[in-house]
Formats: sequence, C-alpha cells, structure tokens
Amino acid sequence: MKIVVIQGPNLNMLGVREQNIYGPMKLEQIHAQMKDVADQNKMEIEFFQSNLEGEIVDKIQECYGEANGIIINAAAYTHTSIAIRDAISAVNLPTIEVHISNIHRREEFRKTNMIAPVCTSSVVGFGPFGYHMAMIGMLQIMSEVQAVQAAQKQAAEAK
Ligand code: DQA
Repeated sequence: MKIVVIQGPNLNMLGVREQNIYGPMKLEQIHAQMKDVADQNKMEIEFFQSNLEGEIVDKIQECYGEANGIIINAAAYTHTSIAIRDAISAVNLPTIEVHISNIHRREEFRKTNMIAPVCTSSVVGFGPFGYHMAMIGMLQIMSEVQAVQAAQKQAAEAK
C-alpha cells in the first residue's frame, strides 16, 4: 500500500511564514513524523510539494494506478482550483485533505472550498498534528479496503 502526500503553495515556507497561524514546525519535520508512522505500519509513502497548480494536477494524475491513497493540503488552491478538484475526482482514490489552520474561522474567502466535496474527509484546524490524524485516518481506510479486497477474493475463489 502506498500513500502520496501532496503539499500546495507556500507550505515549503512552514516554520517561517505566519508562525502565529501555522506554528514553528517545518515541512520536513512534519514529513519525518509521517514517515515514521508509515514505516511502523509497513506503508510506502511519498512526499511532494509544489507552488504550481499544474504540477499538483500532474502529481494527482500520476497517483492513478500508482498509489492507494492521497493526503493533500492544496493550501491557497483549495479556495480556487477547479483543476485540482477535477484531478481528485478523476483518479477516484481515498483522499484526505488537511488544513493546518481552521479555514472556517479565518477570512471569508477561505470559506470557499473547491476540494472538500470530492475528498473522503477533511482534517482542519489541528495545527501540524492534523497530518498525523490524516495518517491514522488513512491507515483505517487502507485496512478497510484490504478487508473488502480479501472478502471479494474469497468469494471469487468459492465460486
Ligand atoms: C492552509 C489554509 C489556506 O487558506 C492557506 O492558503 C494555506 C494553508 C492551511 O493549511 O491552513 O496556505 O491550507
């Protein structure tokens, strides 16, 4: 099983940008913690960050047939990008969106969310810990997927 973590624009600036909102943790530290959880659960994990919408669309498309689940923080593109939304719909993989801050209690424009309606679930406002919560959620989804696949295989063999 493989999870791809996709980080949108300005998330490479974590630890520097608006620490009062996003905290002091750097993206590499968040990813190191996620990698530990993946390793403990024998899960493959890949990390990708881009400031460019098209590159994020390309990465989501690459997940098709390659990954079993996506964890994405589309950052500012969350509020604007139909292209990223369509890519998530197109690959049709279990997808969890993360927002470090609580986008619902910030500026009005952050209340528009193009991504959430096509995601399996959202983790919002828990700070960097939200990525850990998304990992736990994804592990649960993966174990459910594996259980369904095993049951289907058993049923096919019994025919
Ligand atoms: C963010 C929230 C977005 O509104 C913002 O543009 C970001 C980060 C978050 O993680 O809280 O860049 O996605």
